[in-house]
Amino acid sequence: MLPHKQIELKLQAAVREILPDADVSAVLVRPCEPKFGDYQSNALMSLAKVRKMNPRQLATDTLAKLDVSELCAKVEIAGAGFLNFRLKNSVLAQTLEAAARREHLFFDQAAQPKTVVIDFSSPNVAKPMHVGHIRSTGIGDALQRTLRLLGHTVISDNHIGDWGTQFGKLLLGWKQSLDRAAIERDAIAELERLYKLINAECDANPARLEEAKAELVKLQAGDAENISIWKEMIRLSQIQFDTIYSRLGVKFDFALGESFYNPWLGDVVSDLMQRGIARESEGAVGVFSDGSLLPKEDPFLVNRDGEWIADPALVRKSDGGFNYTTTDLATIDYRLKTWSPDEIVYVVDDRQGPHFKKLFLIFARWQSAAANKVKLVHVGFGKIMGDDGKPFKTRSGDTVKLGDLLDEAEERAYKIVSEKSAELPESQRKEIARVIGLGAVKYADLLPNRQSDYIFSWDKMLALQGNTAPYLVYAYARIKSIFRKAESGKRKAEIALAAPEELTLAKHLLNFGITLEAVADELRPNYLCNYLFELAGKFTSFYENCPVLKADDAATRDSRLALCDLTARVLKQGLETLGIETVEQM
Ligand code: ARG
Repeated sequence: MLPHKQIELKLQAAVREILPDADVSAVLVRPCEPKFGDYQSNALMSLAKVRKMNPRQLATDTLAKLDVSELCAKVEIAGAGFLNFRLKNSVLAQTLEAAARREHLFFDQAAQPKTVVIDFSSPNVAKPMHVGHIRSTGIGDALQRTLRLLGHTVISDNHIGDWGTQFGKLLLGWKQSLDRAAIERDAIAELERLYKLINAECDANPARLEEAKAELVKLQAGDAENISIWKEMIRLSQIQFDTIYSRLGVKFDFALGESFYNPWLGDVVSDLMQRGIARESEGAVGVFSDGSLLPKEDPFLVNRDGEWIADPALVRKSDGGFNYTTTDLATIDYRLKTWSPDEIVYVVDDRQGPHFKKLFLIFARWQSAAANKVKLVHVGFGKIMGDDGKPFKTRSGDTVKLGDLLDEAEERAYKIVSEKSAELPESQRKEIARVIGLGAVKYADLLPNRQSDYIFSWDKMLALQGNTAPYLVYAYARIKSIFRKAESGKRKAEIALAAPEELTLAKHLLNFGITLEAVADELRPNYLCNYLFELAGKFTSFYENCPVLKADDAATRDSRLALCDLTARVLKQGLETLGIETVEQM
């Protein structure tokens, strides 16, 4: 167990002795500013506050019951009642030695593993994946990797949009205007062409629209021909999605898709109606506000000119078709029955925030007992902008296809790699460019706070300096090059930390697990990006100030080589957890 956890457990035990009724699970020990110590706990202040106790007195009493002398060189009460801990250098060194013996890599497995369903990526059939899909796909994948690394059970499910009114038009287009050669060449482009063609015709001619609707009705009724064309459209789309996923190294446990839930949608609506949760309105069926929330917090109300009016969630259309919400309700029900998750996480664009608010509230009204057991979380994110401050588009104003974007990333990276490392063989430069190019796009997307919009910039994301994937992959490769220069042979297993840069680096390594846990708790991969960037910076100052291969003596050299190796391993594991590969040389 890592030292901060040991301190935490001892602190929790001490608090329990003094306040037997307190919930000590919130008593945490976290890294802090070096001038205060290595770790800090601020929990005593809130415990004191609710009990109207003097926080410093509580801190003093707790300290009297707390024996961390084996772990800490110093424990202090500071400010209003903070506890600051300074680790013993020997404990730090032992923790690193254990990591060097591969007993751990600075993280513990979760004490209470959770089962989490992550719903992410979820593109729509017959449409190309565009630049925006990097967001849900990259964030979702980083989250599934983090949770798995920490020992949680993850079920990743790609909720593909494979059902809906667009299929009426697509079916009509397929039957009347399909270009066989084009569908062989680029299926999604051809499906897109067909959709646009029929859509324009429908806009101009109501009779065409009726034809498209008739195709949809036939599909919904299970007409054999329409079903088989529809299945073919899904299959062709899935091939293109899978090409992108394999390029990005993203895997899903399931891709059930919206259509999977069709058999249950009718029952969902009748059940909602029977329980008085949904009601008919103008031929459709919807869920309305139940008045339990303040109007400004109630997603079933909107303010129009100072007046609150109903904004229901529709669950059945007037033509009998079902809605996005209906499918999502059936999906929650299915996931709970199938996997009994503790959490269901939806990694979806912030513009769908109101949908998820409504969805979660409806589910709580529909199945309150089940809703109490599962945590439903919308992990939202902002938009990708161009440098003109508008959503990122191609020069001609089209949406940027994800496949094209990844090609361009690799091409641009290839130029950079070829300038920097002209001596490497072409195949190796290509491979480095692939890792760096894809890594750059992913990392640039994971780095900002996910809710903020960010500006897409090739120059920034591909820069070898700054908080970028190329910088981190390069930092890793540079450490690997030290080992290529070092003589092989048996090295001493002892780690001695003397120089301030060694201590700083060592302490930062110890915080890897805390960072991973924060990513898992708050579903924010950017914490890990920033941790790794700091790690690379701390490594650089260590390497500049502490000679490794030219160290004064063999023991110091071996100890420093061990620090290099641990840094490389954490960088590699950290990048991998973000879905970013590394190269050994660049
Ligand atoms: N296919 C949907 C879209 O493109 C996203 C689905 C997200 N997941 C969900 N369970 N609603 O907007």
